[in-house]
Amino acid sequence: MKQEFIFIGPPGSGKGTQTKMLAKDSKLPHIDTGALLRAEIASGSEDGKLANSFMEKGQLVPLELVSRIIKNRLMKSDCDNGFILDGYPRSLEQAYALDDILKEVDANNSVQPQVFYFDVAQEKLVERLVNRRSCADCGSIFNLKTMSLEDETKCPKCGGALTRRDDDTEEVANKRFATYFAQTEPLIDMYKEREWLTTLDASLDIDSIYKNLVGAIK
Ligand code: AP5
Ligand code: MG
Repeated sequence: MKQEFIFIGPPGSGKGTQTKMLAKDSKLPHIDTGALLRAEIASGSEDGKLANSFMEKGQLVPLELVSRIIKNRLMKSDCDNGFILDGYPRSLEQAYALDDILKEVDANNSVQPQVFYFDVAQEKLVERLVNRRSCADCGSIFNLKTMSLEDETKCPKCGGALTRRDDDTEEVANKRFATYFAQTEPLIDMYKEREWLTTLDASLDIDSIYKNLVGAIK
């Protein structure tokens, strides 16, 4: 059966951590718009340059660019059994665009996506963001504060270099929160009205959140 999952939550709420775990267990593709945009930036493309000019200010990248990236990704055959969307949609206009994209890529699809909202107070999150490190090779995510790493520069899973995201400064993180509250939070009510929404307590530890997430899958 086709399964479609959407993950919404503020910066640092654990979307990436949990969606990577779910992708591994479900074998569904993990589609992280932030990571796709960072790959565009790394490639030096014009799209990447445009994206960077918004991301460095903690603002949403323009609708046209994100819609194009998502549509191209959802048309790939590995999405035939479903997908996990991490950080998309994150505005009402993106949610309506996604409705249209899903009709376009699979007109006969009658699956209702399940939307997971990660509920956690902002106070907890800045500390998570400034202590985040990601592996440049395997993409694993670590928290220097809660996970004791022998070498804070090397991935304990694959030996790759651990890097800090450019937007993980307190200054940009605060701008990302402002963008989240203004543009992304309205999606919660919209998806609640559609009865697609499942709220998870994202202040818990990583394993407890994952257990609750798997238990809530319809
Ligand atoms: P994006 O990369 O999606 O960033 P974000 O939404 O700010 O979310 P994060 O990736 O920072 O946090 P996360 O929820 O994934 O948390 P994680 O699991 O890593 O987007 C970046 C930018 O790209 C945006 O600002 C925007 O400019 C642009 N963009 C992206 N999508 C877009 C879109 N759809 N439209 C337009 N623009 C878009 O965890 C964070 C840290 O906490 C880690 O260190 C982790 O180890 C730790 N941690 C996780 N869970 C726990 C826990 N339960 N307890 C303790 N620590 C934990
Ligand atoms: Mg993420």
